Amino acid sequence: MANELLYVVDDDPGLRELIQVLLEEQGYRVLTFENGKVCLDHWEEDPSAILLDMVMPVLDGKETLKKIKEIHPDIPVIMVTSVQDVETVVGAMKLGAYDYLTKPFEETRLITSVEKALQQHSLTGRVKHLEREVKRLKGGNGILGNSKALKVLLDKVHKVESSKANVLILGESGTGKELLARAIHENSTYSKGAFVDINCGAIPETLQESELFGHKKGAFTGAVDSKVGKLELADGGTLFLDEVGEMDLNTQTKFLRFLQERYFERVGDHQKIKIDTRVLAATNRDLKKEVEQGNFREDLYYRIAVFPVTIPPLRERKEDIPLLCMHFLKKYKDDLNKDFQSIAPEALRHLTQYPWPGNIRQLENAIYQAMIISEPPVIDVPSLPEDILDQAESPQNAEAISQFSEKELKPEQATPSTSNPDGEILPYEEVIKNTLANALEKTHGNIPKAAKELQLSRSTFYRMVKKYDLG
Ligand SMILES: Nc1ncnc2c1ncn2[C@@H]1O[C@H](COP(=O)(O)OP(=O)(O)OP(=O)(O)O)[C@@H](O)[C@H]1O
Ligand SMILES: [Mg+2]
Repeated sequence: MANELLYVVDDDPGLRELIQVLLEEQGYRVLTFENGKVCLDHWEEDPSAILLDMVMPVLDGKETLKKIKEIHPDIPVIMVTSVQDVETVVGAMKLGAYDYLTKPFEETRLITSVEKALQQHSLTGRVKHLEREVKRLKGGNGILGNSKALKVLLDKVHKVESSKANVLILGESGTGKELLARAIHENSTYSKGAFVDINCGAIPETLQESELFGHKKGAFTGAVDSKVGKLELADGGTLFLDEVGEMDLNTQTKFLRFLQERYFERVGDHQKIKIDTRVLAATNRDLKKEVEQGNFREDLYYRIAVFPVTIPPLRERKEDIPLLCMHFLKKYKDDLNKDFQSIAPEALRHLTQYPWPGNIRQLENAIYQAMIISEPPVIDVPSLPEDILDQAESPQNAEAISQFSEKELKPEQATPSTSNPDGEILPYEEVIKNTLANALEKTHGNIPKAAKELQLSRSTFYRMVKKYDLG
């Protein structure tokens, strides 16, 4: 990410210049300032990150940080300090500093910290961009997503939605089959009529026929009144056969006849009723297999599967996850009366890595749950459901996640061994290491427990254990 603008604020001209040279060698543009006030007074183009000295005359690091965060909360600030005490660093982190460097620091430490800060900055920018996308896409057919897989599917659907062709929608549970069926209806010539759905899986086999075709009074025990079936209600509109694989064989036979002849009779009646309806069907089963096993009529299968489309599972279109997350955040914000604005980049990374066996419905529930248990304005890692965090803790995922923000580092939780046996204060890094080691010892190496003790999310704890080589 070369050519990005960085600010360096330090009253020591030698160090200021050194940092400038090191960063310019990496291809960054650098502007330097001798203290916080000069920096704020001469602020022009927004930088992508700021290196800020802690002790400076006129306006010191802490006060400058406060002012920067008020106006530009998204710009990551790295504190540069020669002060070794935990308090100062903790204070700065609490005010929203992204990282800190203790003087004298290694060149590589400086470069890595800047690179990570820039990564964080660009992710925050991406989240903002996605929020705008959600706004822009709202009011469309309600099917959100910017993945190639979804675009291919929607292009295919677009070709058929205005025809009369029956469409069979295939896909795992929670992938959006019903949503797609409704969208097809809305964009079809049948949209003026009703969208009538019948969930074959939710109706006992013995009642399916009458539910679909209706019945005449007295047609069977319990038929105290005549009843209009769903098929009749869908006249001029769309009939959506949800979980069509669960339709009982009798009803299948009668429905096939309707598709061939376009008329039917209510149960217990001989009067022919003619209707015009578009038929859409959906299933998460392998319907062809059901045909092979004799559970589904082959001739009916070919009738309803004139145009089969498969919605890919969410794990095969992970690019859609951020957009969907922002959408659900907006969707439930008012319901819960909690003004959530965003999802922390690291949390978003966890959400993107999870395989989502329950697809979009599960994602929706996860966001809803996180919004209930956490406080606005940002959904952070600890508020995510356990199974998502557990999944992310596989070593492979943890490594990817560790690329992200170290914001969650909470040095104030360090309690033991802040000094050596001679009473001398230990370097900050050592205090942190001692704290982690102590928690691990106390919990006999149980990472989830140790993380809980320190009030850190598991993934942060795991990452820190790796960093200090304690695992
Ligand atoms: N692309 C999408 N954009 C926005 N919301 C979506 C999208 N896909 C699904 N959803 C939402 O996810 C939830 C589940 O979708 P839906 O009920 O259509 O799935 P389904 O495939 O019919 O599931 P099942 O097989 O369990 O019946 C709904 O709240 C739906 O609005
Ligand atoms: Mg459904």
